[in-house]
Amino acid sequence: MKIVTNSQELPAGCAFIPTMGALHEGHGSLFAIGKTRAENVVASIFVNPLQFEKSEDLEKYPRTPDRDIDLAEKFGVTHLWLPTQKEIYPAGYKTLSAGNLGTIYEGASRPGHFDGVVTVVRRLLDLVKPKFAIFGEKDFQQLTLIRSIAGSVEIISAPTIRENDGLAMSSRNARLAPDEREAASIIYKALQSGKSLQGMREILASEPLFTLDYLEAIDDETFAAPTNMSVNVRVIVAGWINQVRLIDNMAVRIESLK
Ligand code: PAF
Repeated sequence: MKIVTNSQELPAGCAFIPTMGALHEGHGSLFAIGKTRAENVVASIFVNPLQFEKSEDLEKYPRTPDRDIDLAEKFGVTHLWLPTQKEIYPAGYKTLSAGNLGTIYEGASRPGHFDGVVTVVRRLLDLVKPKFAIFGEKDFQQLTLIRSIAGSVEIISAPTIRENDGLAMSSRNARLAPDEREAASIIYKALQSGKSLQGMREILASEPLFTLDYLEAIDDETFAAPTNMSVNVRVIVAGWINQVRLIDNMAVRIESLK
């Protein structure tokens, strides 16, 4: 695996997986999908300041460079790109807007977050010029927004990778104390309970350590409330355990929500 800091050393036409580091098996699965699509698999690690509301969150974001290099290598990354701030955001760079979808659900709780995400992803795609870019379904709203700004790059979505108790893998899980980590499995329990939205909310309410932000059903093309015409419906959920924000989602059948 080659480690590069300048995007000009990257092979065009590759499969590309942008990350913010603190890699885990979930990222590993994205790299493995990249390997099935292209000879060259490029991963980037760039902790993007624009997508953090508070500077203390940016500072607290986990950084595990040595582990990241090992994991990227193990999962077949051919080029690990560690961009400089200057290359990503040269003087006079323009911020993109994530539009209305950037202001609801995750965007309502984290104002400006998705503007930061679409700005950095568009910039990364312009510099790498990949054929494919791969993103996890766990961040479903992010995935939908990225599809809208991807231009000619084919966006491939990858299924959420879960821990044994169903908790979606995330770099943030490392911030949970053991009892909080155990409590976090309530999210998966609720999602796969087969209950109505209200029934799922009641399951979540039974866990005293979990504070619900939202649990809603959406049409997964439009993000609007599903109608009988909706083909793909998804339940999206977000909340906190001791200030650690946890999100998840699951495809469901519309009949099961009634
Ligand atoms: O999902 C992430 O890790 C980040 O939001 C992304 C897509 C790498 C942009 O910084």
